[in-house]
Amino acid sequence: MNVMKSFREALSNAKHVLILTGSGISAESGIPTFRGAGGFWRKYQAQNLATPEAFTANPSLVWEFYEYRRRVANEAKPNKAHEAIASFQDRALKEGKNVTIITQNIDELHQRAGASNVVELHGSLYKTRCTVCNEVAVNTNIPICPALEGKGSPDPNIMISNIPKNELPLCQKENCKGLLRPHIVWFGENLDEYVLKEAFNAVENCDTCLVIGTSSIVYPAAMFAPQVANRGIPVAEFNLESTPATRHFMYHFEGPCTITVTEALNP
Ligand SMILES: NC(=O)c1ccc[n+]([C@@H]2O[C@H](COP(=O)([O-])OP(=O)(O)OC[C@H]3O[C@@H](n4cnc5c(N)ncnc54)[C@H](O)[C@@H]3O)[C@@H](O)[C@H]2O)c1
Ligand SMILES: [Zn+2]
Repeated sequence: MNVMKSFREALSNAKHVLILTGSGISAESGIPTFRGAGGFWRKYQAQNLATPEAFTANPSLVWEFYEYRRRVANEAKPNKAHEAIASFQDRALKEGKNVTIITQNIDELHQRAGASNVVELHGSLYKTRCTVCNEVAVNTNIPICPALEGKGSPDPNIMISNIPKNELPLCQKENCKGLLRPHIVWFGENLDEYVLKEAFNAVENCDTCLVIGTSSIVYPAAMFAPQVANRGIPVAEFNLESTPATRHFMYHFEGPCTITVTEALNP
């Protein structure tokens, strides 16, 4: 039997669907992945700026980088893969099934496509956290503060800004005024325990799983799908190439996910 047909059949019998997504699903919306050609900002490797050490050393530089990423995500639109997931979820809900989305992305494109039940493993570009009182707040302003207006250009010839701390985003709580940071899990940091619990729940209870646009290198997300596959559950990977996890999975669909995911999920 045709492999796609076989997967669609498995999916039609599923009751608890888990959809795991990584930065590859947003690539066709124009948001670069870290491991692709777009993994640089100015002369820095993006992964070296998404760390607590980089923020401590130079919060102004890291805020410029995030001002840029917020602007890129804001200008991006959900693509056909995000849309196919949202409408699949909608149809599934009406049939009494449930669909959990666990994403490593921080761009909120799943939600903007209309999806619900999205577990954001790594936080969001649109949330801040106070480094003093830990308060988490939603913030969609662009620029996020006046001093970052027009800042964050990725051009490698641009000089760094050195914005003083008291002009960077600050906590709005009275008597706090602590420095805010993006509410994002940076490389080397632990995931939020509650979020991790929600993710493990979905991993343990699903009966079909899709893994879309993730390199399966970043832990703990990288172990979720192989863990599901080890229970004998049908797992389908959608990626431009094979990954270290491919050998664990029953299905592998190679190509841009706007095409492959649409084919798998459309009615
Ligand atoms: N959009 C975002 O929110 C965003 C962007 C960059 C990085 N990040 C963060 O960086 C980390 C990187 O991990 P990751 O595994 O998500 O990303 P990754 O950059 O490590 O891997 C991306 C994967 O997507 C695949 N891919 C690229 N374009 C694709 C397409 N059109 N269709 C199908 N597959 C495609 C690549 O082959 C690769 O395997 C994550 O922690 C994430 O939080 C997030
Ligand atoms: Zn505070």
